[in-house]
Amino acid sequence: MTQPVAIAFKETDPEVFATQSGRIALVVGGDGKLGQAGRKLDRAMKGAIKRAVDSEAFAGLDAGEAMELSWPAAIAAEAVQLVRLDRKAGADEARKAGAAIGAKLGEAGALVVAQNHPRAADLSLGLALRAYRFDYHTGEDKKAYGPVTIMVDKPEEVAAAAAPHAALAEGVFFTRDLVNEPANILTTDDFAARLAAMQELGLDVEILEEEDMKKLGMGALLGVGMGSEMPSKLVVMQWKGGEEGEAPFALVGKGVVFDAGGISLKPGAGMEEMTMDMGGAGVVSGVMRTLALRKAKANVVGLVGLVENMPDGRAQRPGDIVTSMKGDTIEVINTDAEGRLVLADVLWYAQDRFQPKAMVNLATLTGAVIVALGHENAGLFANDDNFVADILKAAKTEGEGAWHMPLQPAYDKALKSRLADMRNVGNRWGGAITAAAFLKRFVKDEVPWCHIDIAGVALPPNETTLAPKGPTGWGVRMLDRLIRDKFEA
Ligand code: BES
Ligand code: MN
Ligand code: ZN
Repeated sequence: MTQPVAIAFKETDPEVFATQSGRIALVVGGDGKLGQAGRKLDRAMKGAIKRAVDSEAFAGLDAGEAMELSWPAAIAAEAVQLVRLDRKAGADEARKAGAAIGAKLGEAGALVVAQNHPRAADLSLGLALRAYRFDYHTGEDKKAYGPVTIMVDKPEEVAAAAAPHAALAEGVFFTRDLVNEPANILTTDDFAARLAAMQELGLDVEILEEEDMKKLGMGALLGVGMGSEMPSKLVVMQWKGGEEGEAPFALVGKGVVFDAGGISLKPGAGMEEMTMDMGGAGVVSGVMRTLALRKAKANVVGLVGLVENMPDGRAQRPGDIVTSMKGDTIEVINTDAEGRLVLADVLWYAQDRFQPKAMVNLATLTGAVIVALGHENAGLFANDDNFVADILKAAKTEGEGAWHMPLQPAYDKALKSRLADMRNVGNRWGGAITAAAFLKRFVKDEVPWCHIDIAGVALPPNETTLAPKGPTGWGVRMLDRLIRDKFEA
């Protein structure tokens, strides 16, 4: 797995500027005041720092933004960056400041002069998240990022505050790696093996095979994988950090390792993106990893349905009628609306076996949610206003875009089928909502539940504040925050 950049916290040492050969980042508040180390660096650079701080360019920076000095005169460093961050800055601004440093990081590493900033730990998280890298390039550009040293006055204290952030970064990286992996490498077998390996971290991991799922009556999930050579799987990960016997919080993820659409084949252009259709399962897996790494004091169960949606002679057809584990029959109008079929059975199994106190599912479920919200917000659909308020709050704290969408009973009408209890698609309109209405049929009224459609935010087309171009890991931080605030009291 991709390792987060190594970050060490050390006591402020103004002498270090003489020998630092990598990059230097100096954190400065809007007042432009330099601390002892900053003044020392300024003297070494013959006043270049002071001049930069007094410049219009610095005055024009927003909180968390950075500027690069044109050349680091008179010192050994390869570049010097001024990062604007007031002492009263929030966590969001501190993460952004760290990301500005992380975005420029190279193989020589960096020295961050944090001037005893109270948000140094949050800054380190932003730095780590933005300095993520994953590719299959061979050759020259393979060199790893150099180490980062963050100079603060009380390194032990800041390191302790940053430890859970390191667990979080590792969870986010696990998710991003899974989303990045192509489907010839991240097969359902390989995905399940990576999850089984997390037993070493103290998670209980079980893998249900096709025969097991047949016995449970999971006709909806199993129908999706019929056209694939890869075996469908249901992986159950349990973290038991809470009271024994206490009902868990359940996380359910859509894990379609490749979505060709099945017999309702997708157009060729852009089909390669459908290696990310396991993004929901990726987030669930990343959260479970973080919980284990930071030894969370909560009972959480993560369930992911791993399937591949392919067309072949055995593939499910439009018009097929399948029976879900719940017992409801479903007319498959469009084999490309496969995620909801997978989730229907995993959601039911999660409730049947675990009686969770609340349940969240994540899925790259519809193109329609991207039409509605673009790439800035995930769509939230819920059966409980208080629960969705908790989720929105957690998302806001972590700076992850989330928007509450409607889910009135009226939308459910679009799912009426002549032959079965429901069809798997609605009509042309409100596609993200009718998909949610479909899922709602597999959720018991007494379970507070939220479906999160992450199709737009899992792999946006451009870089974001905390991620280079590629997968974001959206949701890992929000869910870790939600678990801290609501399930770890
Ligand atoms: N995996 C797709 C949704 C998707 C689209 C994810 C774009 C990420 C980016 C899903 O399985 C799908 O194909 N949905 C269809 C549903 C339709 C057939 C009702 C869609 O959105 O077109
Ligand atoms: Mn599909
Ligand atoms: Zn899909």
